[in-house]
Order: sequence, then structure tokens, then C-alpha cells
Amino acid sequence: MQNSMTQKLIINKFNPEPEIISQAANIINSGGLVAFPTETVYGLGANALNPEAVKKIFIAKGRPQDNPLILHVSNFDQVNKLVYLNDTAKILMREFWPGPLTLVLNAKNIIPLETRGGLNTVAIRMPDNPTALALISKSNTPIAAPSANLSGKPSPTDANTVYNDMAGKIDLILDSGSVKIGIESTVIDVSDPNKILLLRPGGLGIELIEDFLHVKIISPDSDNLKLKRSPGTRYRHYAPNIPVIIYGSKIPDEKYKNYINESAYIGLEMPNENFKEILIFDSVENYAHGLFSAFRKFEDQHLIKYIFAQWPPGNGIGLGLQDRIKRAAQG
Ligand code: TXA
Ligand code: MG
Repeated sequence: MQNSMTQKLIINKFNPEPEIISQAANIINSGGLVAFPTETVYGLGANALNPEAVKKIFIAKGRPQDNPLILHVSNFDQVNKLVYLNDTAKILMREFWPGPLTLVLNAKNIIPLETRGGLNTVAIRMPDNPTALALISKSNTPIAAPSANLSGKPSPTDANTVYNDMAGKIDLILDSGSVKIGIESTVIDVSDPNKILLLRPGGLGIELIEDFLHVKIISPDSDNLKLKRSPGTRYRHYAPNIPVIIYGSKIPDEKYKNYINESAYIGLEMPNENFKEILIFDSVENYAHGLFSAFRKFEDQHLIKYIFAQWPPGNGIGLGLQDRIKRAAQG
């Protein structure tokens, strides 16, 4: 449905136009919502320190109020006012920011409870994207931003997808085309530096963090621990309307046999069956980059019965890709 309330402006990917950034920052500073590109996925931004603005994010997405948001910052000095830093967090920031690594740390009181879903901790990251950095910097406030999709849907990797989900619900979409990475940031809890927890695998391979720190990151395997630590993992996520089936080297069950010619396949290698649609990626990175847009594309075709997604290797960004496929398959 077309709605004149939501403006979409094309912005230069490398040198965002200052007039457009000013217009967007004005919206942020007056409590409005702006969708903007990051290197991972598009985010839906509001002034993180304004509880009324933050509430609008939850309404626009249909997101449960207790699922906390990520604060996006544009410089290192900003961070001290927002969270209690420890040495591990400091060196991680210096090594991996700007970039697809989100740190969960103990929050200072300046951050409204609305932003952090009532928790004592808050998630924070510095995105590696010129438009995002310019917008945060011009707004002169941290920007709270979840992915700019309706709650439960795959995250948007381009602005048209944001428009389809958010038209009429937000003020502005900054359109700089397709994002770089395509799945969300890696989220780790470093509030206790002696026990670093992986809350969500994502754009940054955890081996890189482990090699850098010379420590093992704990993947909370018991779902209990995970649910306690990362509220977002409790909810259905990343799922298209079409059922997603995990594919090893063949269809996992004979019962799908009759639907092959009505189904789509995505993966790294050619399948053994004659699917209606076949999408092959030449690297794990490109598979991650194309996953969500493939989900959306097949959804729009309305004629696809199942999406078969090949199970990728689990190193580097592959772990995050496995996670997104698994969640989509559960949906
Ligand atoms: O790449 C990304 O991270 C994108 C872009 C826009 O920056 N953002 C994003 O936000 O994916 P969102 O809201 O869709 O996912 C944030 C995840 C959720 O699973 C949430 O539960 C978790 O981070 N999270 C946020 N604050 C937390 C906290 N204090 N403790 C534990 N988990 C937290
Ligand atoms: Mg999300």
C-alpha cells in the first residue's frame, strides 16, 4: 500500500549528501523514525535516548517490547557515556569497529529502559557504513536501530524491501542500494570479560575474535541460558511465508519428491533434483549476502511451495548463515 507519509531518498553510498543527512538528522532529533543502511542490513533508527521515539520503533515493527535494541554510535568517546567499559570491550572496539560486532555491556542510567527492554545491559555497535556514521554524527545522539523489517520477517538488505514493510509507518528511508554483508552483526556479551558469551553469530566470524583475544567464546548451548541472555532469540525470526527446508546433499524426505518442480533451491552447489528455481552462490559470503533477498524474492512469486536451503560450512560468516537458515526452517 502506497503511503505518502514515508519518503524514500536516494543517497550516495560513499559520500552521502550533507543536505539529505541534515534532513534525516532533523527527523531523528524531533523524535521520528529513519531507516538507513548499515554494512549488515538496513536499520530502523530513532534517538536512543528518547523513550517516546524508541516506542515508535516497536510499534512500526510489531516488535515485542521486551526485545532490546542495539545502540549505534559514530565515535569512541560517545561510548563512555552509555556503558561501563572493561579492557576487553575497549580492545575489541578498537580492533573491530566500525564493523559487524555488537557488544553487550552494563548500561548507564542515561539509556532509557525502553531502549534496553528493561535489562541492566545494553547492546552497542559502530556500523561500517558512511551513511549510518554521518547520520549518527549529525544527529549528535546514539541511534537505536533494530533491523528495518516487520518483526519475524527476514531482515532487509535493500531499501525497496524496507519500503514494502514500512511504508506509512516511518518518516524516511535513506536508500543507498544493496548492503555489503547481508546478515546481521555478531552479538557477544562482554559484560563479564572472563566469560564472553555468543548471543548471535553474524557478520564477524567468532574465530577472528577468539584468535585476537586468545580466549574461547562460550556458545550458550542450553537454550535456557540463551533465552535469558538474548531475548531476541526467543522470537520467531528471519522466516519467509514459504516453509524453508534444510538440504544436505539431497532432499531430506521422500515426501517432498512430488513438489520439486514447484520448489526453489538455494546453495553453494548444484542440487541433484530439478527444482523450479535454482540459485547458486559462488562463496559462503555471497550466500549470506543473498539469503534474505532470496527468501523475499520467492515469497513475492507466490508460486513456490518450499525453499530448500543447502546447509553451509560453519566457519567464519558460515556460522551466522547456518543460524539464519536454521531459524527460517523452524518458522
Ligand atoms: O546488524 C545488526 O545488528 C542490525 C543493524 C541494523 O545494526 N541490527 C539488528 O538489530 O539486527 P535487531 O534488533 O534486529 O537484533 C538485535 C539482537 C536481538 O537478538 C536482541 O535480543 C539482542 O540483539 N540484544 C539487544 N540488546 C541486548 C541485551 N542487552 N542483551 C542481550 N541481547 C540483546
Ligand atoms: Mg532483527
